[in-house]
Amino acid sequence: MSWFSFSDMRLRRKIMVITVISTLVALVMVCLTFFLYEMMTYPEIRLKSLATWAQIMGDNSTAALTFNDHKTAQEMLATLKANPSILSACLYDNKGQQFASYQRDRAARRRYPAVAEQAGAESSGGSLKIFQDIFSGGERVGYLFLETDTEEMRTRLTHYALITVLIGLISFFISLFVASRLQRYVTEPLHRVVDRMWDIARGEWDITKRLEVSGRDEIGDVAEAFNAFMGKLQTVKDMKSDLISVVSHQLKTPVAEINGFIENMLDGITGEVNSRQRGYLDQMLVIGRGNYKLISDLLSISKIDRGVVSADIHPVSAKEVVALTIRDYEQIMKEKSLILRLEGTEEGIMLYADRDKVVEALRNLLNNAIKCTDSGSVTIRVGSEGDQGVIEVLDTGIGMDEETLGSLFTRNRVLGQEAHRSGAGLGLYISKYFMNIQKGDLTVTSEVGKGSCFKLVVPKYMKQAGTAA
Ligand SMILES: Nc1ncnc2c1ncn2[C@@H]1O[C@H](COP(=O)(O)OP(=O)(O)O)[C@@H](O)[C@H]1O
Ligand SMILES: [Mg+2]
Repeated sequence: MSWFSFSDMRLRRKIMVITVISTLVALVMVCLTFFLYEMMTYPEIRLKSLATWAQIMGDNSTAALTFNDHKTAQEMLATLKANPSILSACLYDNKGQQFASYQRDRAARRRYPAVAEQAGAESSGGSLKIFQDIFSGGERVGYLFLETDTEEMRTRLTHYALITVLIGLISFFISLFVASRLQRYVTEPLHRVVDRMWDIARGEWDITKRLEVSGRDEIGDVAEAFNAFMGKLQTVKDMKSDLISVVSHQLKTPVAEINGFIENMLDGITGEVNSRQRGYLDQMLVIGRGNYKLISDLLSISKIDRGVVSADIHPVSAKEVVALTIRDYEQIMKEKSLILRLEGTEEGIMLYADRDKVVEALRNLLNNAIKCTDSGSVTIRVGSEGDQGVIEVLDTGIGMDEETLGSLFTRNRVLGQEAHRSGAGLGLYISKYFMNIQKGDLTVTSEVGKGSCFKLVVPKYMKQAGTAA
């Protein structure tokens, strides 16, 4: 990108450049017009003025010429010094002989033209000359020659040029100032539109909200089109949610039933199972449970999207919540040789929360901890901080780096390129959402190679008050 590339310039600069250039072009055109007009008309004006002088001089010198009075003629010509631009003058008698003369600059030895050489007016060699017959009573009594310099005209044109440059400079700064003030009216609404687009791209903006831009100009049109586009996007999003909701709802029960049948077969209800069959059934159960978890997560997500998730809040003991959480995981922990530690469950802490949602969140935390821990232990620690009940899930597993932690509770990487140990990467997003809708929260601290600690917080139940803390 070269620094002078107009197309690469920010709009703010473009507007300023366009404004300043058009102001200057208009100004130059106006000045140039005056300049040319002056150049064309000034000689004519000068000539007229010179002709008037010649007329007056001629009229005044008839008596001197008639009476052959050189002295009076000389004195009369000397009055020309009242007009400093007249360079020289010469009076001739009717035979063309020089009668009297005048020159502004006494030192200059001017040659006065012979009568025969001259006719009318002419402009040459930087001076303007006029030659005129003098009549008295219908009879020619002599001739008059007048010469004036064009110095004055040059001075005037120089002044014009200076004034043009000066006004140009002043206009440049004024238009720059005005443009820098006015450009905001164009760029600011545009910035608002662009910022909103980026917010949406980053998933930070609710697409049901309208983009408000005042004004009915092109930027207003962009905002309007953008809102229409977002409306369509919302429709597509709704359709997607509906589809996921219907499909996952329809799939959830059959998958749960299949899992139940597999469990029954493994329990020997359908007869003796040989070791080969048991191996297959075990694998089928793992896959079936994974599918069930995925379907449940998708159903939760579609409910969150449609805004139909609500919390059913009652007093519930932390101990019960933990018991429900670990129920299905003791076996798999035994298989992985992981130690399960429970701390603080006997303290009788009561939570004021949606039991099923807390259990679902905790099950996800425990499931993740088991998944990501190859040896060592997983601890569930119950406690309280002020009026909040706290349940922590700590593991001695692989831990997470900063990048993973940064996007852990978002759904941006849902079904993304990242190869998870299992699952669709929706669990923590859902868990945090479930906590947030009941005035709780879910946070994490972790260190790569050492393990993680997920901290779930919900309001405590205060027996005296009968409500949340
Ligand atoms: N205790 C943990 N230790 C290490 N990594 C974890 C832990 N909990 C979660 N993670 C990481 O976060 C990801 C997202 O977890 P989650 O949202 O529950 O989705 P899922 O379990 O479906 O993959 C996991 O796949 C894993 O990479
Ligand atoms: Mg999970």
